[in-house]
Amino acid sequence: MLEFRGITKIYSVKKKKVIGVDHVSLTINRGDIFGIVGYSGAGKSSLLRCINLLERPTSGEILIDGVNLTKLSSSQLRQARLKIGMIFQHFYLISQKTVSENIAFALKAANLPVNKIPARVDELLEMVGLSEKRDVYPAQLSGGQKQRVGIARALANNPSILLCDEATSALDPKTTVSILRLLKEINIKLGITIVLITHEMDVVKEICNRMAIMQDGKVIEEGEVYDIFASPQEILTQEFISSVVSFEIPAAILKDVRGQIVKILFKGNVAGEGVISDTIQRFNVKGNFLHGTIEYIQERPLGIFLMELQGEQNELSKAVAYMTKRGALVEVIQHV
Ligand SMILES: Nc1ncnc2c1ncn2[C@@H]1O[C@H](COP(=O)(O)OP(=O)(O)OP(=O)(O)O)[C@@H](O)[C@H]1O
Ligand SMILES: [Mg+2]
Repeated sequence: MLEFRGITKIYSVKKKKVIGVDHVSLTINRGDIFGIVGYSGAGKSSLLRCINLLERPTSGEILIDGVNLTKLSSSQLRQARLKIGMIFQHFYLISQKTVSENIAFALKAANLPVNKIPARVDELLEMVGLSEKRDVYPAQLSGGQKQRVGIARALANNPSILLCDEATSALDPKTTVSILRLLKEINIKLGITIVLITHEMDVVKEICNRMAIMQDGKVIEEGEVYDIFASPQEILTQEFISSVVSFEIPAAILKDVRGQIVKILFKGNVAGEGVISDTIQRFNVKGNFLHGTIEYIQERPLGIFLMELQGEQNELSKAVAYMTKRGALVEVIQHV
């Protein structure tokens, strides 16, 4: 378990104070793939770098499995850091070393006995699907392959936590998906907790189970990814979600709407459309779909529909109550 307790990071720039992280308390559970989302400058990298004390917090504590990292001696900290791997947007591979030498370098740095290094390098290359590239130089690799080397290197010392700072931001969408699959596999097979910074909600939706949204150094919202997608509380969160699940209705359509606009949400396995058609048959209301989608968030369906409902107020209320009874979350967006 990884705990941030009241973490604040203040930078001094030309005698001016810049707040990087502002009183963040957060718990990341073992086995989580935890997403940290926010716009540029929100403090994501600063917070991530506090985990392995690459950045010393100005105040607050970092605990990993109950051990307070901020209280360790420098040699103890060096040991603790071996259990935290890290990958970056720009890979940072050593260009004069081959793929296998890059990985071996990390193993040497961690004092693995020299005779054990080749076998471990092979194992790691196999794990990231790069065995046939072992003797080439980074310049001969694609972005996705470079990130695979980065991942192999980060896993060299069997870490329990893997930190990813915009690890897929330099990659095209298809390569991004393949790297995310690899990360998920690592999370499941090796039981490694992953903390992942991204500005792409697609990435979060694809692999994270929990997430936090940052703004001005603070965590403004956190929770299960599914719940946050279903009912984002903060405006910024809604903005991020709308990049994946958008419900913009063109003004030209909106001006012809005569009824009440309702947003209907179905979580999990409720057969959404069935409930809606039952409702329309049962009550004296007419319904028009304005928008609709079923998102799959880690294979769990989330149905979101925008409808115009027309009818007497009394019938409309009964229809809404009926859908609610059938398991939908109904929100009246606009009365006419
Ligand atoms: N080494 C530093 N020295 C001074 N200020 C810094 C330093 N690192 C970060 N900051 C400042 O701290 C704030 C948070 O920066 P940080 O890099 O953590 O944001 P971020 O969310 O990772 O942004 P991005 O998405 O652009 O990577 C910003 O105002 C930034 O200018
Ligand atoms: Mg950053």
